[in-house]
Amino acid sequence: MTAADPSAGGRYGEAVFRPEQAGEGERIDFGALAYDDITMARLRALGAGPGWRCLDVGAGTGTVSRRLLDEVGVASVLAVDRDVRFLRRRPTPGLQVLEADVTAPDFGPGRFELVHARFVLMHLPEHERLITTLAGLVAPGGVLVLSDAVDLTSERAPGSPYATVMRAMWQGLRSTIGTDVSWVPSYPHLLRGAGLVSVAAEIHVPPLLPGSPISRFWADTWERSRAAMLGTGLVDDATVDEVIRYLGSDGCAALSAGMLTTWGRKPEESPR
Ligand SMILES: C[S@@+](CC[C@H](N)C(=O)[O-])C[C@H]1O[C@@H](n2cnc3c(N)ncnc32)[C@H](O)[C@@H]1O
Repeated sequence: MTAADPSAGGRYGEAVFRPEQAGEGERIDFGALAYDDITMARLRALGAGPGWRCLDVGAGTGTVSRRLLDEVGVASVLAVDRDVRFLRRRPTPGLQVLEADVTAPDFGPGRFELVHARFVLMHLPEHERLITTLAGLVAPGGVLVLSDAVDLTSERAPGSPYATVMRAMWQGLRSTIGTDVSWVPSYPHLLRGAGLVSVAAEIHVPPLLPGSPISRFWADTWERSRAAMLGTGLVDDATVDEVIRYLGSDGCAALSAGMLTTWGRKPEESPR
C-alpha cells in the first residue's frame, strides 16, 4: 500500500471531502444517520448527562453535539472543526462552536467530562500523538470516546468488485490525504497507553440495505473520492459505477466497513 503522503494531495477537506462542494454536509449526515443511535447509546451508558461539559472534535454537521444537548441534557458542548460552516447553520442553546485544527500544537480548549471524536483521527496521520492530546483534555473521572472505521472486506481475496472498490477507496484516501484505518484496532492499547483506565471497545456494522443511509453514504463517498480511487489503478470508472448500482439493488449482499468505538476513563487522581 502506498505510504501516507498528505503533502501530495493536502489534508482532509482539501484534496477530498471539500466542505464547500455541494452535498458534503448531506454525505456526513448519511454517516450520522447510520451511526448516531449507536454512538448516543454508548455515550449514555458511559454516564453522559446533566452537568457534563463535552468536547466534540471534528464535529462535522453537529448531530452528536446537538443530541447530547437536546436528548441527554448535558451542560454544554464545544463543537470543534477545521471548517464550521455546517455547525453554524443551526444555533442550539449550549452549543459553542470553535473553528480550529485539532493537530495544531497549541490545541487545548479546556477540560471536559466527555471528549468525543468520530471518523476524524483515521484521516489524520498524527493519530497516536492526537490520542495523547485528547486524553489530556479529559477531566479526572471523565471519558474519552473515539470511533473510527474498521475495514472488514478489502483484504479478502479473491475480491468481489465491491471489495475491490472498497480497497481502492482506502488506498486512494491513504495516498492523497493520509487516511489510515489499519491501526484502528489498536485503539484500546493506545488509550491504555495514554493513561486511561476501564478501557473497552465495540464494533457496529450497519446493514447494507438498498437505499439505507450507509449505502448512500458509501455511494457519495466514492463519488467524492473517485479521482483518488482511479489513481490507485485498481478500478476504473465503469467498475465504480457498477458497484454504486449494486449497492442500490436488491442483489446487494456485502458487508459494510464497521465503526469501532473505544472508550477509557481518566482516573480521578491522575498525574496527567
Ligand atoms: C467524516 S467527518 C465526521 C463528522 C462527525 N464527527 C460525524 O461523525 O458525523 C470528519 C470531520 O472532521 C473534520 N476534520 C478533519 N480534519 C480536522 C482537523 N485537523 N481539525 C479539526 N477538524 C477536522 C472535518 O472537517 C469533518 O467535519
